[in-house]
Amino acid sequence: TTGNVTYDMGFANTASCQSAITYIDGEKGVLRYRGYPIEQLADKSTFLETAYLVIYGELPRPAELADFEERIKRKTIIDEGMRKFFETFPRGSHPMPVLAAGVQALGTFSTTSIGDDPQSIEKATERLIAKMPTLAAYGYKNSRGEPFLYPDNALSYVQNFERMSFGYPTEPYHFEPEITRALDVLLILHADHEQNCSSSTVRLVGSSGANIYASISAGINALSGPLHGGANQAVLEMLEAIKASGISVKEYVQQVKDRNAGIKLMGFGHRIYKNYDPRAAIIKQHADRVLALKSGRRDLLDIAQELEQAALADDYFTERKLYPNVDFYSGLIYEAMGFPKEMFTVLFAIGRLPGWIAQWREQRADPNSRIGRPRQVYTGVPERDYVPMDDR
Ligand code: SDX
Repeated sequence: TTGNVTYDMGFANTASCQSAITYIDGEKGVLRYRGYPIEQLADKSTFLETAYLVIYGELPRPAELADFEERIKRKTIIDEGMRKFFETFPRGSHPMPVLAAGVQALGTFSTTSIGDDPQSIEKATERLIAKMPTLAAYGYKNSRGEPFLYPDNALSYVQNFERMSFGYPTEPYHFEPEITRALDVLLILHADHEQNCSSSTVRLVGSSGANIYASISAGINALSGPLHGGANQAVLEMLEAIKASGISVKEYVQQVKDRNAGIKLMGFGHRIYKNYDPRAAIIKQHADRVLALKSGRRDLLDIAQELEQAALADDYFTERKLYPNVDFYSGLIYEAMGFPKEMFTVLFAIGRLPGWIAQWREQRADPNSRIGRPRQVYTGVPERDYVPMDDR
């Protein structure tokens, strides 16, 4: 025990901080943002309203939401210098490092929002929420060699992102309300998740006094790993590989169970959820609808559902309490919407941004917050004397 924190040898289940933002009961599959069940927010809220709730702690009154939406609309455009920044990346660059670099660069394009005073923090909050979709869409367009589209503030937050990603300056963009709503819900479901790897990274970097752009850029990099946010891309690659190999789902499950094969069932398992991830259940409902609308890869959805059934009927998975997590079905929806696999984790990052901001603000506002300094158990060699080169 060090101070008020007890470490176990695995460091796997260490209580690292106190937070009032998100509550998870992993055994029961419960997830609440500021006390509101995720199922109700997915059903009744919008992403911007949920972002307000996660960041400020309460559901906004009508005038508060209107003011927040207006403040965001006013900041969706990015400095023209940022366009040159994007154009320096090689075409085909993975959009996650581009996004991480873009968020870091946002801090250099603003001298009035990198401070610790309330005004600077509020301005940075608005700039990040407003510009993240623009950065993501610009990175995507640049990777395809297509012209950037300026944001259109007559559109909703999610519609703006859809049009900047898939639209062309040569023609109007056609929206499908069911698709826009599905994307809104997906962003709500990703908005925060307690002390996951990327949010803990944001808090650790922020604990040194680093500004919010640097802290969130670090969080984006942590999210890119295939064991974390990168899993949604890895799930689609897994489903495509099973399809291409021609092996049966049962044969694939046997491969996963063979520890020497070193294969994981991507989109399955979770450090906290030892039950069905409540987000996965909601996403699965939308997957059926979106794939029907957009003639998505139903063949891959069928494989995914067969995989889920096979795993949940197999002791190897149920004994280890391995269930589908948020990443298992989300990629199928994103793919049906027209996003390439490389963009899936960028969409996760857009959704998780309010949580990263809220956690960074919560920690910065805590007068007792101290710089993060994890301890270790030393497993190296005992003390010894220097050996001169001639004696080695
Ligand atoms: C996210 O923390 C968060 O909240 C994250 C997240 C968020 O919203 O921020 O929820 C988002 O990151 C979801 C997780 C996405 N990742 C994946 O889907 C990748 C596949 N999953 C695994 O890599 C794994 O389940 C983790 C990383 C998610 C959790 O790993 P843990 O908690 O360290 O579990 P573990 O590796 O100790 O596994 C325990 C056992 C092991 O077997 P044994 O050694 O006991 O024999 O379960 C096995 C593991 O081999 N196992 C799996 C498995 N996950 C764990 N076996 C096969 N397939 C898997 N997916």
